[in-house]
Amino acid sequence: MTVSETQAAYGRWARAYDWFVRLLPGLDGLRAGAVADLDLERGDTVVDLGCGTGANLPHLREAVGPTGTVVGVDLTPGMLAAAERRIETAGWRNVHLVQGDAARPPVDGVDGVLGTFVVGMLADPAAGVRAWLDRLTSGGRVAVLEATRTTHPAGGVLNPVFDSLVAAGAPGNGSDSDASRTLDARVTEARDALAVEGSLLRDERRVAGFVRTLVAEQRA
Ligand SMILES: C[S@@+](CC[C@H](N)C(=O)[O-])C[C@H]1O[C@@H](n2cnc3c(N)ncnc32)[C@H](O)[C@@H]1O
Repeated sequence: MTVSETQAAYGRWARAYDWFVRLLPGLDGLRAGAVADLDLERGDTVVDLGCGTGANLPHLREAVGPTGTVVGVDLTPGMLAAAERRIETAGWRNVHLVQGDAARPPVDGVDGVLGTFVVGMLADPAAGVRAWLDRLTSGGRVAVLEATRTTHPAGGVLNPVFDSLVAAGAPGNGSDSDASRTLDARVTEARDALAVEGSLLRDERRVAGFVRTLVAEQRA
């Protein structure tokens, strides 16, 4: 998707997004796990790329505490507006939002980079995650969560349902499975780049194989 297509699609989604993700059981636990994988300390600085409505922000704020800094970056003004409401309601003074592109993160020298359900939207995910590693301080970590087709034995039945859901979110001219196969390929490209450019600490599939977790550390 182009920048304007992403902004239009997620601009339409912004109000319903939080309601929809509440229907996905266990997602908040996966977010908490990805934040734990960043191994942040109090006072650290962390960036959430493609932060959307800010669903990761409570976990990140908890990890860095009141003396740390959390920056959420997203392309879509409507999603950022929802994240801003979340920050105002919580009264966090050290959580900031920037409209920007996750492919060229507008930050540097951070202790952790989180990207949940965004790496599959990058046209060049390998270049994207290389840029994420570049923005880290020594020993800093990147954590990625992304939806993928499952390799579970029940995939023959379950993957067509997943394909339809992904295709509904990324309409195109191909068959339903084209969009999810593109998504899978992008996650694998990101994984390979993290393994080559950093130290890959985790590559796991959860939720019957539909969510892939990647964690890498910046190589000193
Ligand atoms: C599926 S939502 C995920 C939101 C959030 N990370 C979460 O886990 O709920 C994808 C988000 O990524 C944003 N996005 C897509 N491409 C982006 C890019 N290149 N740079 C920054 N944000 C992007 C969209 O605007 C949207 O808010």
